[in-house]
Amino acid sequence: MQHFPLTMRAHILVRVLTQGRGIYVDMTAGNGNDSLVMAKLLQHDGHLYAFDVQQEALDNTLALLTENNIDEKSYSLRLDSHENIDQYIKMPITAAMYNLGYLPNGDKALTTRSDSTVASLKKVLPRLKNGGIITIIAYPGHDGGEEYYAVDNYLSGLPAREYEISRTEMLGKMFSPVLYLIIKR
Ligand SMILES: C[S@@+](CC[C@H](N)C(=O)[O-])C[C@H]1O[C@@H](n2cnc3c(N)ncnc32)[C@H](O)[C@@H]1O
Repeated sequence: MQHFPLTMRAHILVRVLTQGRGIYVDMTAGNGNDSLVMAKLLQHDGHLYAFDVQQEALDNTLALLTENNIDEKSYSLRLDSHENIDQYIKMPITAAMYNLGYLPNGDKALTTRSDSTVASLKKVLPRLKNGGIITIIAYPGHDGGEEYYAVDNYLSGLPAREYEISRTEMLGKMFSPVLYLIIKR
């Protein structure tokens, strides 16, 4: 049976809509899969930042990037919450990826939270360059959907003249994850 998960769709969006120049950000590094996709796209002037609150996640991300021979000068891993992104990145952002929730097979208590996720979005959105993108995978089935509803409400209130926002979900699947794509016009 063919399966085309939302994570893979997010990777395709980043590949198709950006050219590897400028600043890329993995807002939730986890096991590094999103970081690897962005790191492979980078051209000479591109740089990847990856954030996570768990050292284990950054270790996993470093291992994956190293295994794939990614130049260590092209990325910076930050053990910090993504809501502090403004302390590290001052330049315009080309792409930011979120995969919300917890580390697969990890401690479910160390999950993203609605307050810090929305706080980080409020910092990333004004830094997006024209044509820059954000992808977010959110999980209505986690913790009663609190974080999902907070993200959905926040995105729904953004001005359509500034941001083109779409959402993808699997029909017929209870608590399907949702993939958002935000493009700065
Ligand atoms: C679903 S996983 C990410 C999967 C990852 N993108 C990948 O490709 O493997 C979610 C990650 O978010 C991290 N996280 C939780 N709260 C965070 C925060 N405030 N800032 C940054 N990362 C956070 C968790 O530690 C976890 O590793």
